[in-house]
Amino acid sequence: MNNNPIGIFDSGIGGISILNKVLKYLPNEDYIYYADSIHNPYGNKSKEELIQLVDGIMKKFMLYQVKLVIVACNTATTQVISYLRKRYYNILFVGVEPAIKVAYDYHRNKNVLIMATPGTIQSKRLLELNQIYSQEKRVLLSCDGLAELIENDNMEAIPSYLISLFSQFDKEKIDVVVLGCTHYPFIKKEIVEAIGHSVIFLDPSVGVSLRVKHLLKENDLEAEGKEGKVTFLLTDPSKESVISKYLDLEDSYVLSSVGE
Ligand code: DGL
Repeated sequence: MNNNPIGIFDSGIGGISILNKVLKYLPNEDYIYYADSIHNPYGNKSKEELIQLVDGIMKKFMLYQVKLVIVACNTATTQVISYLRKRYYNILFVGVEPAIKVAYDYHRNKNVLIMATPGTIQSKRLLELNQIYSQEKRVLLSCDGLAELIENDNMEAIPSYLISLFSQFDKEKIDVVVLGCTHYPFIKKEIVEAIGHSVIFLDPSVGVSLRVKHLLKENDLEAEGKEGKVTFLLTDPSKESVISKYLDLEDSYVLSSVGE
């Protein structure tokens, strides 16, 4: 048993799509959610820049003595999770990466669209996943600027952005969409509208929740006998309204800002 919190971070509000699910599977745990909105987007940053940012976040997490960290960002996972695991070897990490394996296992003969940030699309890890689980009818789509639009709640700009992005391929044929950035689950409706028909969406939130649950149990780190709470650390306090727009929690959370 261990009542220390779980750390979870993203370049902003995207990781809320993961937090919402994890909270359903593990309601007794405490969470420290770090939203690094001031440095959004991560998708255009170099590996060195990302390392610097995640080190800053880890420093904060250490103060809270987190027992496990969820890297709720595909860009950070694909580029720096191996660094994090080596550098902070006494902490457990769970990352998120585009559900390419799930698409391969369950939708092998379908037309699959992988949407992700430029950083994720260009990462070695994605190249590796793309080769191991190679699928003939797969489109890899770098969505430069999309996470920023969602982060800034610039919803009016999203339909035209998507229409122009999807004009690069035959969208009629798409059956499955892999949401390879944690910001994208918030715009499923807009994606369906821009594609023009319904699709199967794949996102990693259930897989991440089950993995966290398993790791806590295996390492005897589960919290016991209490109701969990969520503390938000915001690098940009003005993002509070976007967080509450997407968060599936009505009360019992604490907001505070992180001084730069
Ligand atoms: N939400 C993040 C991801 O899953 C990053 C978005 C960004 O900052 O570019 O990749």
